Amino acid sequence: MYSQALDQRDPLDRRDAADEAPALEAGFQARIDAEDKIEPNDWMPEAYRRSLIRQISQHAHSEIVGMGPEGNWITRAPSLRRKAALLAKVQDECGHGVYLYAAAETLGAAREELVDQLLSGRAKYSSIFNYPTLSWADIGAVGWLVDGAAIMNQIPLCRCSYGPYARAMIRICKEESFHQRQGFEIMLTLCRGTDAQRAMAQDALDRWWWPALMMFGPPDSESRHSDRSMRWKIKRFTNDGLRQKFIDATVPQAQYLGLAVPDPALRFDAETGHWQIGPIDWDEFHRVLAGGGACNRERLEARRQAHADGAWVRAAAAAYAAKHAAPHPGPHPAPARAAA
Ligand SMILES: [Fe+2]
Ligand SMILES: [Fe+2]
Repeated sequence: MYSQALDQRDPLDRRDAADEAPALEAGFQARIDAEDKIEPNDWMPEAYRRSLIRQISQHAHSEIVGMGPEGNWITRAPSLRRKAALLAKVQDECGHGVYLYAAAETLGAAREELVDQLLSGRAKYSSIFNYPTLSWADIGAVGWLVDGAAIMNQIPLCRCSYGPYARAMIRICKEESFHQRQGFEIMLTLCRGTDAQRAMAQDALDRWWWPALMMFGPPDSESRHSDRSMRWKIKRFTNDGLRQKFIDATVPQAQYLGLAVPDPALRFDAETGHWQIGPIDWDEFHRVLAGGGACNRERLEARRQAHADGAWVRAAAAAYAAKHAAPHPGPHPAPARAAA
């Protein structure tokens, strides 16, 4: 899933890139302008490193927390086929979290510290996962809209200037595409079903539409990191630009499903060729981001519990690694030498 709006600022980010040696800085920017990839051992401004660690770790946390709302439905999937697809999807999300933590580690971040930031509530994850999944149709709507929005956000990251992040995103995007399709197919099946099934699909769209649009982050006018992230080619499109792409792709899909987009102001602007939406409730966005969503507490509690339950696995892995790092004693102990 996806990287939340980059508005959780680390005080060190405020250090101006101009503090760095100007020649190194100029060379770094020239490489970025030439579409070169920056690799872990290359020189980079400290603010670039910190900005990426924050973005990549928030992205990793989102993948991990994002397993919760859907994992909730694995035991209640309506058929073996649906269960197998949902299990595969949730496992993919775990894998995405693992690649991304590994990408953050290449920048010098310690995984334990990143996980601790999540568990202590200091780090953010995508606020979309603070909404509940109330019916099976929500699994369809999450795949279609949430993974769909994630793809829109993440495709440009495949060309991000930082090599390890860009390469991780290529595989992740392929998997997100499967997630989006399995979600749309669930919606399509429900919409071709009984009246009750269609009503369930409509209810899911009603609840997920606006939160999905908020996944692109605050409007450009309020987005504090955009300019610098664009110059460093961490970000390629603005929040509003990506949101519009998503709306233009998704409204026709809702029409194909025969569902109504829950926005009375929605209209197609023939002049611009874009769908225009009504106002987004940014108060809700800020409230959920600040911890006021239906499931914020539950999601973090689930992560803390999982971390505590996994303590023995980490201890066993550390003991195994220590045993193999020690010099091998050989099959037989050497005979003791007689004292001279
Ligand atoms: Fe994902
Ligand atoms: Fe996904």
